[in-house]
Amino acid sequence: MSHSAYQIGMGILCLLLLTTISCTKDKLSNPTDKILTEAITTIAPNSTIDDFILPYSSDLDNLPQDPNNKLTATKVNLGKMLFFETGLALDALHELGEGTYSCATCHVPSAGFMPGAQQGIGDGGLGFGNKGETRTKLFNYTEEEIDVQGARPLSLINVAFTKNTSWNGQFGGNHNNIGTEYLWSEETLTEVNHLGFAGIESQNIEGLHLHRMVVNKPLMDEYGYTPWFNAAFPDVPYEERYNEVTAALAISAYIRSLVPNQAPFQRWLKGDRAGMTESQKLGAVLFFDKAKCYLCHNNTALNNADNFYAIGVKDLHEAGAFNTTENDRRNLGRGGFTQKEEDLYKFKVPQLYNLKDGGFYFHGSSKNSLREVVEYFNKGESENANIPNNATSNLFNPLNLTTEEIDHLVEFLENGLFDPNMNRYVPDEVLSGNCFPNNDPISQIQLGCD
Ligand code: HEC
Ligand code: HEC
Repeated sequence: MSHSAYQIGMGILCLLLLTTISCTKDKLSNPTDKILTEAITTIAPNSTIDDFILPYSSDLDNLPQDPNNKLTATKVNLGKMLFFETGLALDALHELGEGTYSCATCHVPSAGFMPGAQQGIGDGGLGFGNKGETRTKLFNYTEEEIDVQGARPLSLINVAFTKNTSWNGQFGGNHNNIGTEYLWSEETLTEVNHLGFAGIESQNIEGLHLHRMVVNKPLMDEYGYTPWFNAAFPDVPYEERYNEVTAALAISAYIRSLVPNQAPFQRWLKGDRAGMTESQKLGAVLFFDKAKCYLCHNNTALNNADNFYAIGVKDLHEAGAFNTTENDRRNLGRGGFTQKEEDLYKFKVPQLYNLKDGGFYFHGSSKNSLREVVEYFNKGESENANIPNNATSNLFNPLNLTTEEIDHLVEFLENGLFDPNMNRYVPDEVLSGNCFPNNDPISQIQLGCD
């Protein structure tokens, strides 16, 4: 049978069996597709490539969620506004900061929901640039007064697939944090874990306070969000319906829906074998085989929700960031929270989609391109003077990749795992009518709001 006759035959067979999707999936005409399918199924938890297919953002039932915060469309819609609402920024330390920042100031959509800079600056920051890269300290705030942390903000893309949040996993009263109850304190900001919510919900309840935001009934009336809260929380008693807790639950619902399901790798997994280029496929094969990335990045979002690892990267104070030093508790990773020797220098394994827009990699922003990241893993050697090589994970080793292999792996990370349409998760406007994600005078000009 000739090639085209074979294809027609297969096409008719597919129609006959009404199983077009599985027929497309089985049509492995390109040898790389076959090799990649084998590489993935070999390591996938359920031995199928479906293990890495992300649900659609509208498929709320299939997005990982907190049983105490069931996902609904009305919660997601409200959260989509509040996340960007600079009108909540009313607990600023100085008047000049009031109404100028939002969650999206440090989690900028066009920078992969990261700050677009080595460090995020909330209250006490000025400017935006194109995607956060020119934001600096506002002159009348001291370094100690600005809202900054001693680690680069994590991306919120695919955050639904994490369990305990922050680089050290300290948030959430569930999962890895069971047994750490005695450590949940005001001092470490983890008292919130006692409320019994999952990591994302817990972190966001604390986050609204930490990032100096205000939610109450008069303010929600003023902006027009009250009916949105009524729609999202009909079962919550009136007196408890309009505050930082419900706002945090809505924001959590929204960020849980930030799924990059239009990325080439996702299209490929769902059966569109032309969805990835040959180079991206070869990079993916390396990821799931020779380059051993899957040993740690093996959850649905190519993150890891269960284990923390030491890979010896530099801390943020070495990049010359604000208000962080070599004594920052964050430098100790998971050990800084659990106080256990065996957890020292171990950090969360982040998700890997839409990273190329961010421009700063690892918790200490020590790398500026995904090529530098891959070269770091290829060398397999600690760059942090406090973390000798024998203190890094035994899964972190030299890889001996060739230059060509590095090219393919970088291409997979940069473009194979890149959803070009994340703007669908950004609202056209927020109800206050304010500029967003930032609303200081310089950002207003740069964002075209003036
Ligand atoms: C000043 C910058 C800044 C602002 C503003 C900010 N964040 Fe963050 N965010 C961070 C940093 C830094 C981290 C990582 C902190 C750490 O691990 O120690 C983070 C981490 C997170 C995480 C954990 C992600 C994960 O995978 O573990 C969530 C969720 C989050 N932020 C949500 C929010 C929400 C919601 C808001 C608005 C209420 C917000 N952030 C405002 C800087 C910021
Ligand atoms: C030993 C476990 C382990 C292995 C193996 C591993 N990673 Fe990671 N990866 C991590 C951890 C942990 C981090 C976060 C480290 C930090 O910032 O402190 C990370 C961070 C990253 C980041 C930066 C993400 C961000 O938000 O800054 C990228 C990109 C990445 N890894 C890609 C890869 C690739 C590609 C491979 C294979 C060559 C790989 N990783 C192998 C554990 C691992």
